[in-house]
Amino acid sequence: MSSSSAIDWIELRHAARSAMQRAYVPYSNYPVGAAALVDDGRIVTGCNVENASYGCGLCAECGLVSELARTGGGRLVAFACCDGLGEVLMPCGRCRQLLNEFKAEGMRIDTPEGILDFDQILPQSFGPEHLGR
Ligand code: THU
Repeated sequence: MSSSSAIDWIELRHAARSAMQRAYVPYSNYPVGAAALVDDGRIVTGCNVENASYGCGLCAECGLVSELARTGGGRLVAFACCDGLGEVLMPCGRCRQLLNEFKAEGMRIDTPEGILDFDQILPQSFGPEHLGR
């Protein structure tokens, strides 16, 4: 399930939009939804959850990787993220790092420039292999 031909991007974008509608964003008023296809076929999602202590806010991708672990782990095959209008959104730099930890080989990502390899948007990444695991 690592080639983009096996990925239902319509379903993944829909899952991201559904998650976005659960965002808790009283401070930025900028809802974000994220969805990813896992290598066992399930879909995990997340939304951003802000906090009165602004720096404690959680990006949508934080919720997504937490759900990934909670629901059994696995590797991310494909990822899509959207803003409050449902438009495709690029993950912030910190969240690219969060996703990098759990990427499947050849992971794909929805971007405003089309569907790309995740490694194209985080080249020369730092990952677990650098720690000798
Ligand atoms: N945000 C995400 O949830 N993911 C990203 O990749 C970009 C930014 C959130 C954080 C904050 O709640 C809001 O968007 C505005 O920055």
